[in-house]
Amino acid sequence: SQRTLVLLKPDAVRRGLVGEILGRIEKKAGWTISALELRQLDREVLEQHYAEHVGKPFYEPLVEFMASAPAVALVVEGERVIEGVRALAGPTDPIAAAPGSIRGDFGTIVRENLIHASDSEESAEREIKIFFPGLA
Ligand code: GTP
Ligand code: MG
Repeated sequence: SQRTLVLLKPDAVRRGLVGEILGRIEKKAGWTISALELRQLDREVLEQHYAEHVGKPFYEPLVEFMASAPAVALVVEGERVIEGVRALAGPTDPIAAAPGSIRGDFGTIVRENLIHASDSEESAEREIKIFFPGLA
């Protein structure tokens, strides 16, 4: 099976949507949450996490937003969980995301789109190391 790194962004925590979003992930058959932490993300961690976006116009405001308040970091394990969590999340732009998806149900702003989920096995392993360096 696979594992993926998920972040519930500061907007999700601030708006009290953590239970709702975790519930959707938890209810998927056979998926397991294997690490979970409420955490204030610092710039250093965010710069590593968003390294691919350095220099893009949305990068600075994104890092600022992600460091503005606590987020929830978690690792989810299970069958096709990388593709699966991204399907639950919906596309990056919440207005384009279908109702029924997390972003489609709760989001309006591209930056404040509630959730991050790794986009490949390589990204997942890289990101898990950043957020949970102690995890085997
Ligand atoms: P993540 O799961 O968070 O990585 O989202 P993603 O894979 O759907 O998007 P991507 O990795 O391309 O961008 C990372 C994050 O940057 C997005 O989730 C958005 O919060 C933000 N972002 C991406 N593109 C834009 C943009 O064009 N404008 C703004 N304001 N924010 C953006
Ligand atoms: Mg991404």
